[in-house]
Amino acid sequence: MPQHSETPIYETDLFSPTALREPFGHYRAMRDLGPVVRLRDPDVFALPRFDDVRDALQASDILYCSGGVGFSPEFNQPGMPNLLQSDGDQHRRLRAEVIRPLLPAQLKQHRALLKTLIAERISALVDRGPFDAVAEIARLLPLAAISALVGLPEEGRAAMLDWAAATFNALGPRRDGSDRDFELLAGWRTYLLGLEWTDIREGSWARTLEGAIASGKLSEAEARGALSAYVIPSLDTTILAKGHLLHNLARNPEQWRLLRNDPSLITSAVIEGVRHSSVVRWFSRLAKANYRVGGEVIPAGSRLMIMYACANRDERRFEDPDRFDVTRDARAQLAWGSGPHLCGGMHLAKMEMEVMLEALIEQCEILEAGTPEVHANRGLFGFTSLPFELRSRA
Ligand code: HEM
Repeated sequence: MPQHSETPIYETDLFSPTALREPFGHYRAMRDLGPVVRLRDPDVFALPRFDDVRDALQASDILYCSGGVGFSPEFNQPGMPNLLQSDGDQHRRLRAEVIRPLLPAQLKQHRALLKTLIAERISALVDRGPFDAVAEIARLLPLAAISALVGLPEEGRAAMLDWAAATFNALGPRRDGSDRDFELLAGWRTYLLGLEWTDIREGSWARTLEGAIASGKLSEAEARGALSAYVIPSLDTTILAKGHLLHNLARNPEQWRLLRNDPSLITSAVIEGVRHSSVVRWFSRLAKANYRVGGEVIPAGSRLMIMYACANRDERRFEDPDRFDVTRDARAQLAWGSGPHLCGGMHLAKMEMEVMLEALIEQCEILEAGTPEVHANRGLFGFTSLPFELRSRA
C-alpha cells in the first residue's frame, strides 16, 4: 500500500493570482495525478476527484471541522462558536436553530418579494445599454435579504461585502494581504459583539436566535456565532454564482434559447450553473484517525483540502464536464457540499437564482456578456465585474 511519502505532489502554487484566476487546467492535472495529491504550500493532502470528495464530506467521524476548515491557524481558531467549524452535538444544536427559516417550506413565503425586486431591476436594465451585471443584478437579492429577512440594521451593511470576501480569502494560506483580511474579520467580530438584540428587527431570522438563548438551546456566544451564518456565507457565494450563471447563458446562446423556450428547465439550469462554475473552491478538514482513500492512507493529524469545484468537473463523474448544458441532470453535484455540513442556505440561493432566470425569460430575448474581471479570492471563484447587456428583442 503506498505510503503518504509516495503520494504524488502537485508542484504548482494553486494560490498564485494566475492559478486563482484560471484554476481549471490545474484541477484537471490534479485529478489525473491520483485520488490524493499533496501540495507543498500549504502542506496538505488534496482530494480532487468527485467520489473521494463526496465520501470525505460524509466521513465526519474521522474528518472533522472543529479543527478549522481553512489553512491558517488564525482562521482555524476564530474564538467564537461557528456553525461550519463545529462538530457533533454543538453542530447539531447550532444547525437546528440556523436552518429553520432556510427550509423550502419556510422560504416559500418570500419568493414573491424576491421575484418582484429582481423583476423591477431587470425591467430598469432592459434595452438600457451596457452595465455591470455583478453590481446591478447579482448583488441585489443577497443584500436585500440581509435587511428584509435576516433583519439586521442598515448601519454596518455597507461593510458586509468586504467582511464576507475577507473571510473566504483568509481561509487560504497566509500570503500578501492576509493581515488586511484579518483586520476586516476583527471588524466583523466587533460589529457582531456590539449588536444589541433589540437593534435587530423583531420576527426576523437573526432575532429568532435570541429566543434560542431564552429557551436554553444556545448560549449567548453561540447565538451570536450562529447569526454569522446568515451573513458571511450568504453574500459573495450567491453573488458569484449568479455572475457565472449569467455569463454561461450569455456565451452559450443556444442554451439560453433552450431555457427561454422551456422554462421548466430553470431549476436544472441553476444546478448545472453551480456544478459547472462552483464558487466555493475548497474547504479543509483535519483527520483525527488514519483516513483511507482508494489504496492510500492519509495519516491521523493530517490536513485535507476538499476540492468541491474540482470534483464538479471530474470527467470520471460527468460526461464532457467543461460543457455548460442546461439539460444535464447535475443533481449529484457538490457545489453545496454534502453530509452533515451541507450548505444551510442552498434553498435560498437556488430560489434567488430561479426568480432571476424567470424575470430574464419574461423580459429579455438577448443576453450579451463582455469579458469579466475574475476575483483572485483564495476561497471563492467568480467575477468582481461582468459587462452585460439585456435586450427585449433580437
Ligand atoms: C450559490 C451559493 C452558495 C454556495 C455555492 C454555498 C456553498 C457552501 C458549501 C460548499 C458549504 C460547505 C458544505 C460542506 O462542507 O459539506 C456551505 C456551508 C454553509 N453555507 Fe453555503 N453556499 C451558498 C449560499 C449560502 C447562503 C445563501 C447561506 C445563508 C443564507 C449559506 C449558509 C451556509 C452555512 C450556514 C453553511 C454551514 C453549514 C453547516 O456547517 O452545517 N450558504 N455552503
